[in-house]
Amino acid sequence: MSSRMAGSTLLRHLGPRLFFSAAAGEPACSLLLSGSASLAPARSPAAVLVRLFPVRMTSTTAAKAFGGEQEGEAKPSAASREPTAVPPSERKAVASYWGIQPSKIIKEDGTPWRWSCFMPWETYKADTSIDLKKHHVPATLLDKLAYWMVKALRVPTDIFFQRRYGCRAMMLETVAAVPGMVGGMLLHLRSLRRFEQSGGWIRSLLEEAENERMHLMTFMEVAQPRWYERALVIAVQGVFFNAYFLGYLVSPRFAHRVTGYLEEEAIHSYTEFLRDLEAGEIDNVPAPAIAIDYWRLPADATLKDVVMVVRADEAHHRDVNHFASDIHYRGMELKDIPAPLGYH
Ligand SMILES: [Fe+2]
Ligand SMILES: [Fe+2]
Repeated sequence: MSSRMAGSTLLRHLGPRLFFSAAAGEPACSLLLSGSASLAPARSPAAVLVRLFPVRMTSTTAAKAFGGEQEGEAKPSAASREPTAVPPSERKAVASYWGIQPSKIIKEDGTPWRWSCFMPWETYKADTSIDLKKHHVPATLLDKLAYWMVKALRVPTDIFFQRRYGCRAMMLETVAAVPGMVGGMLLHLRSLRRFEQSGGWIRSLLEEAENERMHLMTFMEVAQPRWYERALVIAVQGVFFNAYFLGYLVSPRFAHRVTGYLEEEAIHSYTEFLRDLEAGEIDNVPAPAIAIDYWRLPADATLKDVVMVVRADEAHHRDVNHFASDIHYRGMELKDIPAPLGYH
């Protein structure tokens, strides 16, 4: 038997087992095989696509039903977006099949916990007493480069957003959540390659990324991006992620210093935001529910309270990143100094 014939026979026997799609109720292999003239009668590409799409769509919907995040679940609009994709009875059946049941968590006040994107034990009270004026004076050439790069980035940001601080905050957070994830990912890969611990820095940087993303989730509740702002975020993320990734590979001390200065700029932006809130130029609306639960704010908290705790978070990120850069400057690696885990 020629090798081609042997291959065809093997595919015919194993194909249904390898590619069967239970969700679609149809062997996905038939879609693959149907495109091969040597193994089955030829079909038009359109016919293959028509048959392929139900498989993809069903798979995506099922994944969201029991695995996807439901951020902003408390919002009626968000709730109607996600969970209704699959009927509740069906969702329960899927969860039961895998032995995974939605957790039922009760808050201290006896009401049900309504967020699936964070848990009560991940919430905290922000330390707003942190020194907001601390600044790392750039001394080396690399520090000066980092400093002036961040200062230069502020110019187009000021021109584009001017005093629309809600939008500005939201867009800023889409960038601010990148460095922690990149740094954490690269340290994770290094730990695997070198068979060594990270000193807690992987978790610390990922915590920072998650915290920044929660800032974004919060500001999304008070300002919705317009279509061109969404397009801008995609473009900026594409450039910034890759630039930061390469920067971190080449010089972690530079990358952390850049992030430290970005955080200093974030503190400045939120201070301006607060000034406009206090002056009455921006409505001091009630704080979003997600912010009240995440930062354990009082029930009558306002946007001003939210901006204050977010600004305190940025000051903590500033310290962590300048500290990380200093560790590298002293010729050490991050793993040599324990990470400031849970530093809020
Ligand atoms: Fe932030
Ligand atoms: Fe930050």
